[in-house]
Amino acid sequence: MATLECEGITKEIPDGEGLQETCEEFGIPFACQSGVCGTCQIQIVEGKENLTPLTEMEQELGMDEDNRFACQCKIKKGHVKINY
Ligand code: FES
Repeated sequence: MATLECEGITKEIPDGEGLQETCEEFGIPFACQSGVCGTCQIQIVEGKENLTPLTEMEQELGMDEDNRFACQCKIKKGHVKINY
């Protein structure tokens, strides 16, 4: 089981799961859900190595390992801390 932390709250996510559902619980908004609109942009504070690699869509829109679209990343394992 992996963990995702935002603003002092930590929630468990099964290894390999996308971040979207948990981020929605944190109150992070989503729109397109396909890496196009940028609505779900998050900052990765800790544990970027525990996320799946940048998708093509994220790369095209200038994201990097510290700035991701929550609808595009999955957590592999371990702990990830984000800011919105
Ligand atoms: S919801 Fe549009 S980029 Fe994630």
